[in-house]
Amino acid sequence: SHIKEVEFIKSSAKPKDCPKDNFPEFAILGRSNVGKSSLINALVRKKEVALTSKKPGKTQLINHFLVNKSWYIVDLPGYGFANAPESTRMDWSALTKGYFLNRDTLVAVLLLVDASIPARKIDLDCANWLGRNEIPMIFVFTKCDKSKNKKGNRPEENIKDFQDIIRENYRQPPPWIMTCSVSGLGRDELLLHMSQLRNY
Ligand code: GTP
Ligand code: MG
Repeated sequence: SHIKEVEFIKSSAKPKDCPKDNFPEFAILGRSNVGKSSLINALVRKKEVALTSKKPGKTQLINHFLVNKSWYIVDLPGYGFANAPESTRMDWSALTKGYFLNRDTLVAVLLLVDASIPARKIDLDCANWLGRNEIPMIFVFTKCDKSKNKKGNRPEENIKDFQDIIRENYRQPPPWIMTCSVSGLGRDELLLHMSQLRNY
């Protein structure tokens, strides 16, 4: 699971514009601002491979990053960005759903869920949509370092609540992992998991 090199290949506005070289790939999905681009940078241990921002809505296209010339990490636009115009939100759904349903080389989706806030309906809806469409996924809980928020529960409690709801809908709930892109928590475990799925 060692990452030797990573190379940005292209941004695609439509699923049919994605690379056609048939390398296996992992898509990074989650609410806007959940930490998708940050997770990619943490995985590949480079600061600005994927562009990040404090403002939600930074990533707007399907971005392919080739790792070790043999597999892709795909950065996707976030969903649930409240300030996005209606037209952009429609595009999001068409773009990503089209991608998920037609991308034969997709190994699994890493569905990122913010562990620093209580479980959100939009994330559960997304997990259920992927589940119904039999798209393999791994729940990646982000921002597990953010525990000082007085209003919210601790990350462990938020994760447990999320899992409890998920378990009601699945015979076999997807695997999950706690991460922090600042400290690198969960990085090695996640990469190992991804390498096992690639070789399966
Ligand atoms: P969009 O591209 O807008 O959908 O957002 P994104 O999901 O790619 O989020 P991004 O990686 O740009 O991160 C959003 C904000 O969260 C940035 O300010 C990051 O520094 C911060 N962030 C990401 N991961 C972590 C984490 O593990 N811990 C903490 N404390 N902050 C994080
Ligand atoms: Mg992003």
